[in-house]
Amino acid sequence: MEVRAVAWADFHGVAELRLHRYDQIDADPDYGMISAASRPTLGEIASWFGELHRAILEGRAVCSVAVEDARIVGMCSVRPDGNHRETAHVGVLGVEVREGYRGRGAGEALLRHALEACRGRFEEVQLSVLPVNDRAQRLYRKLGFAVYGTAPRAFRRGGKYHDFVLMTRRIDGAVGSAPRGVPPTSDDRASSAGPLPPA
Ligand SMILES: CC(C)(COP(=O)(O)OP(=O)(O)OC[C@H]1O[C@@H](n2cnc3c(N)ncnc32)[C@H](O)[C@@H]1OP(=O)(O)O)[C@@H](O)C(=O)NCCC(=O)NCCS
Repeated sequence: MEVRAVAWADFHGVAELRLHRYDQIDADPDYGMISAASRPTLGEIASWFGELHRAILEGRAVCSVAVEDARIVGMCSVRPDGNHRETAHVGVLGVEVREGYRGRGAGEALLRHALEACRGRFEEVQLSVLPVNDRAQRLYRKLGFAVYGTAPRAFRRGGKYHDFVLMTRRIDGAVGSAPRGVPPTSDDRASSAGPLPPA
């Protein structure tokens, strides 16, 4: 498996991964990725990908992909929420690995790659994760993210509500350095106590 920065030529592979999300949501209503009101067309995905690529070229976003069997099997992006000067130093992270390729280190490799690329672009990286998504939360803690709050009932799918667990991490040192300014909970103490062992 190779992890690298996304390229313009990755469009079709990225689109396939994007559409895979909608199959995952159909199969599991608690699947932890947000989605559009309906399955996007290839044209809508092209608009989204074009915007993402523009943001990357302008230094406002980073995006890493995992490639295996000549296929894009995972993606991790970090982008600001909106286009505001006051919040441009904060990146919002999303990560997804294709079913069948999970639990083999792709998610961790993607996060490490993307967080390295965040240096010099973002000061804080934030994310939202469902309480039921143990695998993702464990991975985030392992890479130095700490919980800073909860957004009650922020996620609704099919009439069922979930809170969002809000996590954050500073980008001012090597990947694995402790987040600052976040009081650790007992759960977070281990992950925010110092640098991680190298990959
Ligand atoms: C969450 C996700 C990105 C993790 O990627 P992954 O490739 O499956 O994870 P990795 O194989 O890199 O494992 C990284 C860590 O995750 C945790 N993990 C992996 N498999 C796990 C499992 N079956 N149960 C619990 N934790 C697990 C471990 O901490 C693991 O590190 P370790 O193996 O050193 O203990 C991936 O599972 C995924 O795309 N899930 C669906 C979409 C999603 O939920 N995205 C996140 C939304 S917030």
